[in-house]
Amino acid sequence: MAERESVPAPVTVVTGASEGLGPALAYEFARAGHALLLVARGTAALKAAAEKIRGETGVRVGIHSADLATRAGCKSVVAALGRQGLYGEFLVNNAGVGLSGPLAEYEHDALMRLVDLNIRALSDLTRRLLPDMIARDSGGILNVASLAGFMPGPYQAAYFASKAYVISLSEALAHELALTNVRVSVFAPGPLATRFHERIGSQSAFYLRFQGVESVEQVARTAYAHFMRGRRVIVPGVVNTLSAALQRVTPHTLLVPFAAWLLKLREESAHV
Ligand SMILES: NC(=O)c1ccc[n+]([C@@H]2O[C@H](COP(=O)([O-])OP(=O)(O)OC[C@H]3O[C@@H](n4cnc5c(N)ncnc54)[C@H](OP(=O)(O)O)[C@@H]3O)[C@@H](O)[C@H]2O)c1
Repeated sequence: MAERESVPAPVTVVTGASEGLGPALAYEFARAGHALLLVARGTAALKAAAEKIRGETGVRVGIHSADLATRAGCKSVVAALGRQGLYGEFLVNNAGVGLSGPLAEYEHDALMRLVDLNIRALSDLTRRLLPDMIARDSGGILNVASLAGFMPGPYQAAYFASKAYVISLSEALAHELALTNVRVSVFAPGPLATRFHERIGSQSAFYLRFQGVESVEQVARTAYAHFMRGRRVIVPGVVNTLSAALQRVTPHTLLVPFAAWLLKLREESAHV
């Protein structure tokens, strides 16, 4: 007798899910009953995040360790889904890195890694998982950008530009899919309380004092709720919403010097 083929089970694939915003977004999907596949490089941190979410929600949480800044890493996500008998119902493209300081002084490989992760991996995973979502006429993609994506950002130039790409791609894609049941949203929070700023050495820049940081749990809740309601551009909070609107209408002759003032690293407090 022929063996019965097992039907793949749906999961939400969350990238950058080992720490920071990723686990908080993953938790929101899990809380609503979605099984998860958490992706990042660090296996130990992924396991810890998975155990915590599983313990709190009872949903199935798998992990996959991959360097998404490589083409092979992105490809391996699809292979992992296949091996585990899963398909990507939802994709949360959250993994991202930043760099601060004058672009000419960046380590060359670090700049290429930023482009590879923030732009190439997000596009790659979208292209790999989207056709199946369209074929099923369900599911969707939540791309994580930033308020940074609404303006050029001197001293974080490549990071801001990468997030502008994410916003542009997501809005265009949402339009392309408007007549389907596949939703695409872009999430653009302001500064968050994660290790991101410490990692890029930007603690001395004025933007953190000017804007303050928000908790990942709070913004993740907003992201999930609005994604499920089908909002295309999700900016959490009144202040951030106003800020995004202002960034969109302010002439760049004024906006870019202001952004430079916010983002420039201040020598006197660089080692705080
Ligand atoms: N923090 C903020 O203020 C802020 C504001 C707006 C938007 N965002 C955006 O939110 C997203 C998450 O930021 P975050 O603050 O949570 O950052 P984070 O705390 O630095 O966490 C980054 C996550 O991405 C993973 N990651 C990094 N490089 C990777 C790679 N090559 N392959 C696979 N995974 C990788 C990290 O795990 P491994 O190191 O183990 O791989 C980690 O899970 C990013 O897209 C960021 O641009 C952040």
